[in-house]
Amino acid sequence: RKYNVAVVGATGMVGRKFLQVLEERKLPVENYYLFASARSAGKKVDFMGKEYTIEELTETCFDGKDIDIALFSAGGGTSEKFAPCAVKAGALVIDNSSAWRMKQAVPLVVPEVNPEDIAWNNGIIANPNCSTIQAMVALKPLDDKYKIKRVVYSTYQAVSGAGMGGYSDLENGINGDAPKKFPYPIFGNCLPQIDVFDEDGYTKEELKMVNETRKILHNDNMRITATTVRVPVFHGHSESINVEFEKDFDLDDLKKTLADFPGLIVMDEVKTGEGKGVYPMATEIAGKDEVYVGRIRRDRSVDSGVNLWVVADNIRKGAATNAVQIAQKWMEMQEQ
Ligand code: A2P
Repeated sequence: RKYNVAVVGATGMVGRKFLQVLEERKLPVENYYLFASARSAGKKVDFMGKEYTIEELTETCFDGKDIDIALFSAGGGTSEKFAPCAVKAGALVIDNSSAWRMKQAVPLVVPEVNPEDIAWNNGIIANPNCSTIQAMVALKPLDDKYKIKRVVYSTYQAVSGAGMGGYSDLENGINGDAPKKFPYPIFGNCLPQIDVFDEDGYTKEELKMVNETRKILHNDNMRITATTVRVPVFHGHSESINVEFEKDFDLDDLKKTLADFPGLIVMDEVKTGEGKGVYPMATEIAGKDEVYVGRIRRDRSVDSGVNLWVVADNIRKGAATNAVQIAQKWMEMQEQ
């Protein structure tokens, strides 16, 4: 069977990557429909060896097209308003924004971690926050084996996570231009504010990591805290993750558990003295679909704990690849 697929926000940072990943993965697709705002309507895009015209996203734009899957990445407000229109027209929406993630009726899915949640969707499946996705791929096998007690996240997030505007702020900041997207200059800087603040001093990005982790790992009581920071890197989010377990572990066994998990690659070599260690870095993993983990070492300050350094391409696994993998899984489920 072949499917009709719509991409909403097709001109954006993630939307373009949707197109690239769809092209690479050769999904069984009959027709594609590309949507963006009125600003882009009529623009031509070369895709899969054909020329497509961007259409304006409207409440009725999905009607009569027999769209099976609509991949959304056009901001939270846009998803909130238009995802229900796509569902009404018969599509399954896979939404990259934060609009639907924490709704009880909406599954939040990382295909390697909780593919079973795809089945109970009510028309919308949410793609988690980019920082959460890569953390989940590393933590799931450890939670299954050693039962996680507490997690401390510290992130080093690329500007591409803030869309085209974020990217331009770093590019233009090199010449001393004032930022347009970020609250302060990002060039030569670290901004400990991603998204808006809550009353108690956490940013929304930090709360997303806490709440989404609990939802995906099906553990509402997991103790988690986070500090999320924007750094002057174009592509690739890095995360320091400190994990405490209920059970004891053997470090070699833990490394093997990570290495055996699908979609996760261990890159970890300690070099003493003058030698350069081997560990994942944003510049190395940009363009890759997998999550990389290194700097795996016992946290000796607690009974059973480990420190990890987790890196992934935030626009690929952190957004487009994960969404396309959900679409792929869903298509496979239709065939069964
Ligand atoms: P457009 O290019 O027409 O503005 P990014 O996060 O990289 O900035 O991309 C945002 C994406 O979401 C773009 O494709 C943008 O389209 C789209 N978008 C933003 N607001 C709307 C809207 N109100 N209706 C439709 N598409 C929107």
